[in-house]
Amino acid sequence: MSTFVTLEQIDQAADFIRSRTSHRPRVGLILGSGLNSLADSIENADYIPFNEIPNWPLSSVQGHAGRLVIGELEGQTVLTMQGRVHFYEGYSMSQITLPVRVMIRLNIEIMIVTNAAGGVNPRFTPGDVMLITDNLNMVGMAGANPLIGPNIDEFGPRFPDMSQVYDPALMTLARKVALERQITLREGVYCGLSGPSFESPADLRFLKLIGSDAVGMSTVPEVIVARHGGLRTLGFSGISNKANLDGSTVTTHEEVIEAGKVITPKIEAIVRGVLRAL
Ligand code: HPA
Repeated sequence: MSTFVTLEQIDQAADFIRSRTSHRPRVGLILGSGLNSLADSIENADYIPFNEIPNWPLSSVQGHAGRLVIGELEGQTVLTMQGRVHFYEGYSMSQITLPVRVMIRLNIEIMIVTNAAGGVNPRFTPGDVMLITDNLNMVGMAGANPLIGPNIDEFGPRFPDMSQVYDPALMTLARKVALERQITLREGVYCGLSGPSFESPADLRFLKLIGSDAVGMSTVPEVIVARHGGLRTLGFSGISNKANLDGSTVTTHEEVIEAGKVITPKIEAIVRGVLRAL
């Protein structure tokens, strides 16, 4: 695969998926570290392992299964990515966002993303769920924006607007569902970093200063590509650990996966409610 994924490569993947399922999904779900059990509840599911899909980037990280699960959930036809790849695995930004472009070519209208994140906002505690209201594109601002390279006009313009990255109507719906189900829903800005090292205390103090409520290693590239291509987007962070601003604690991947067990039922309930109401 060349550095920049082409429309032809995207369409090869989309055509393959279309040939392997008769479902025509309206909603795409990307489920993060330790948060992907929702895919197991999908009815009439067709399963497509990532390694069978042409040009699809493959993950190596523990906690990320690798397949598409396409079927029915809460009255919607959904395409679910059980697992995703990250920039730190060595793929280009263009490669890690190929799945989102495939969703767009499959005529998906809405993308819901979840991730595990460190809580920078001092009011957050591990186990909380945060509605992502905006994001800080640290990696992209520093030169690795996923839209760098030839613009594919079929998706959107060269210089896409990002004033409303997350869809206001979908956010309103998520708040309503959380309230109805008595789930505390935090809100804030997700700061996307490359990883794979966790942040130093000085990094975290800086990230807090510039307005981050939660920090993680995914989501922002996918969401930018989604917005470029006109997808309506909704995102949730599961707060898996308190960001270590004073250097007094240690952050581990195991703790992130473990916290997913508390967070998953809450995110699942909200996502189910949103799907039901769409
Ligand atoms: N930092 C970055 N990414 C993360 C964290 C964190 O503390 N927790 C889960 N993903």
